[in-house]
Amino acid sequence: MSPALTIRPYSEGALSQAAAKLRAGELVAFPTETVYGLGADATNADAVAGIYAAKQRPSFNPLISHFPDRDAAAKHAVFDDRADKLAETFWPGALTLVLPRQTDSDVCELVTAGLPSIAVRVPAHPMARQLLRAVGRPIAAPSANRSGRISPTTAGHVAHSLGNAIGMILDGGPCGVGLESTVIDLTTDRVVMLRPGGITREQVAEILGCDVVMAETDDTAPKSPGMLTSHYAPGLPVRLDATTANPAKYGNEILLAYGDCNTKGFDAVLWLSKSGDDREAAANLFAKLHEADQPRFDGIAIAPIPETGLGLAINDRMKRAAAPRTPHPSP
Ligand code: TXA
Ligand code: MG
Repeated sequence: MSPALTIRPYSEGALSQAAAKLRAGELVAFPTETVYGLGADATNADAVAGIYAAKQRPSFNPLISHFPDRDAAAKHAVFDDRADKLAETFWPGALTLVLPRQTDSDVCELVTAGLPSIAVRVPAHPMARQLLRAVGRPIAAPSANRSGRISPTTAGHVAHSLGNAIGMILDGGPCGVGLESTVIDLTTDRVVMLRPGGITREQVAEILGCDVVMAETDDTAPKSPGMLTSHYAPGLPVRLDATTANPAKYGNEILLAYGDCNTKGFDAVLWLSKSGDDREAAANLFAKLHEADQPRFDGIAIAPIPETGLGLAINDRMKRAAAPRTPHPSP
């Protein structure tokens, strides 16, 4: 599927077209002050799966949700005093906060990668803010480049990298910062920098009046989830590439099924995608893993999923779910 690409500079019409596309579940690249983002409705798992398909990312790391202001973000994330101080000082701007997720947030689990936390940011770019306001929903947006390529700071970079995979780019000229936002984790008592970026460690430390620990160098600090082998690991053991049931060996398993796999003999079956559609399976992945993770089963069996398209990222995540457990950072 390669929709014809439209690149539109700022106008009321361009903004309302972009907002309508996002609300309809399509992808739109838009400028922020850091880099161009590849946006999708964060409450629509199928749209978010489209981000991974377009970027050809080989793994599902959690994505940042973007909001027009702090109060919109607070519907989805729980702000403590530290979060409020940082938001007051640096928002709108190049700072992302990882906070506990509100229990009634409708941001889909593919955005948060099944975690109980959520990364939120209020960008400063006027076009981004106007767009976010017009959409009225959280927008998940990683940088608008193919995986492994340099971050896009002009509409031309986006077109070059993703032009045949997305339908629309809002052109806001070159990005001012040119470096992704700083990611600060506030889900523990400590203040941990998960990703350095536009706002410095010293700036954050000065506002909070405490140390900021670097995740990359401090072994006791929580790491960015992509770096944890078994981040979101279910409680039950996970068996990959399960082609047949074997209760004598594995007990009563629930099968996460895909395409024309063999479902015979399993205790229960949950479909990732009946038609063998990798995008549907990606959209379902974390929700189904959670649903399967019930103590009445002895294990979760995963049907074989072809290593093509989003299958790569799905299998990467399943391998992490099946990996020997590393302790989670304490909440
Ligand atoms: O400047 C930016 O931040 C750009 C523009 C488009 O806003 N966006 C961006 O988004 O870089 P993304 O989704 O690629 O950044 C994700 C970063 C990763 O380092 C990821 O590990 C971290 O945020 N992250 C997201 N959710 C998290 C969570 N729940 N816990 C810990 N880290 C999280
Ligand atoms: Mg990126």
